[in-house]
Amino acid sequence: MINFKELAGEYKTPLYIYDLDYMSAQYHELKAAFKGRKSIMAYAVKANSNLSVVKHFADLGSGADCVSIGEVRRAFLAGIPSYKIIFSGVGKTDDEIREAIEKDILYINVESEAELGRVELIAKELNSTCRISIRVNPNIDPKTHPYISTGLHDNKFGVDLNSAKRMYIFANNSEHLDPVGIHFHIGSQLTELKPIYESAEIVADLVRSLQNIKIELKFFDIGGGLGVKYDDEVTINPYDYAQAILGTLKGLDLTVVCEPGRFLTANAGYFLTKVLYEKQNGDKKFVVVDGAMNDLLRPALYGAYHKIEAITENTAEMQKVDIVGPVCESGDFFAKNYLLPKLEHNDLLVIHSAGSYGFGMGSNYNTRGRSAEIAIKEGKARVIRKRETFDDLVALELEFLD
Ligand code: LLP
Repeated sequence: MINFKELAGEYKTPLYIYDLDYMSAQYHELKAAFKGRKSIMAYAVKANSNLSVVKHFADLGSGADCVSIGEVRRAFLAGIPSYKIIFSGVGKTDDEIREAIEKDILYINVESEAELGRVELIAKELNSTCRISIRVNPNIDPKTHPYISTGLHDNKFGVDLNSAKRMYIFANNSEHLDPVGIHFHIGSQLTELKPIYESAEIVADLVRSLQNIKIELKFFDIGGGLGVKYDDEVTINPYDYAQAILGTLKGLDLTVVCEPGRFLTANAGYFLTKVLYEKQNGDKKFVVVDGAMNDLLRPALYGAYHKIEAITENTAEMQKVDIVGPVCESGDFFAKNYLLPKLEHNDLLVIHSAGSYGFGMGSNYNTRGRSAEIAIKEGKARVIRKRETFDDLVALELEFLD
């Protein structure tokens, strides 16, 4: 049990807290689900990119799925070996492509014909050969929030099957490209297995048709997307997930690459915030806290639900409240019409499931420093990122003051 009161006393609020042991358990469960096949778990660094978190996954044997050269550098810094690093994303700059080739990562996930051309050109300039995988957009509705759905032709991600085939033939004929993998990722926070299974089937069929023209791939990259419980969602069992995918690969000798983010970190994380005041506007009651949308954007951006737990002496008197932060935006809320006990100044609220897309989507809006981050491992807590100070926030601007 995490003692939130003690942590708030020692490290102040707002505060991110991560349970690394929980992350390990999730990692082992997913890895074990794929046993019987060669597999690489490539942690999606964007979900929680704190170096200590990435290092924790590196120590467990994980690889990394990165979407910017910054994330690739983080993965290296955290000790992930080059042969387990993947670079994905719909818009890579020439500099990013060059650095990825120089760093000799496992492969670049290519998302368009234009990008394939750039990768070839840059590899040629470097007198090198770049291992690539192509992200296929299987045009399957993943049945998740539209902002995190990526596998439909309406979305900007990946290429259709015909383009993919053309691209493989082009890459196979190029001395500067080595097509080694195939990739799909249809969305995030997926709670239905069928769209994943159908996508895997489509992509596995493409692998077979490539085999027929003597293009042999090694990696079947299934992306991330496994959903987690924020509330009472019925989630996909990792074992069923793995079995469904492996079922589509019969007769194919491929290493499965999986890019889990949320599954590994979401429910390992808590965002701890302190009550400043209660406030009544007509019929509406607000609880104003010291954390805000600049710390945890998901409720404001997606209307996402996060369970909120009050740490207070009062438990008898319950009330429906909006939980809001100090930022000057009406969208600055953590929950609306949420049932909580009556709260006092300095009571604490624990916002659950904040370990993925929490800190990383934060900002300095309203000149608010980002929260500190704490990791707990085998019962011991330590700071893994210091709280930002005002000086940190203005440091780069001061350089230009006359
Ligand atoms: N691989 C690729 C290519 C991705 O685009 C993503 C997430 C992942 C793996 C990891 O997906 P996961 O296992 O975490 O679902 N900010 C949103 C989520 C955006 C996800 C973007 N891509 C949120 O807070 O819900």
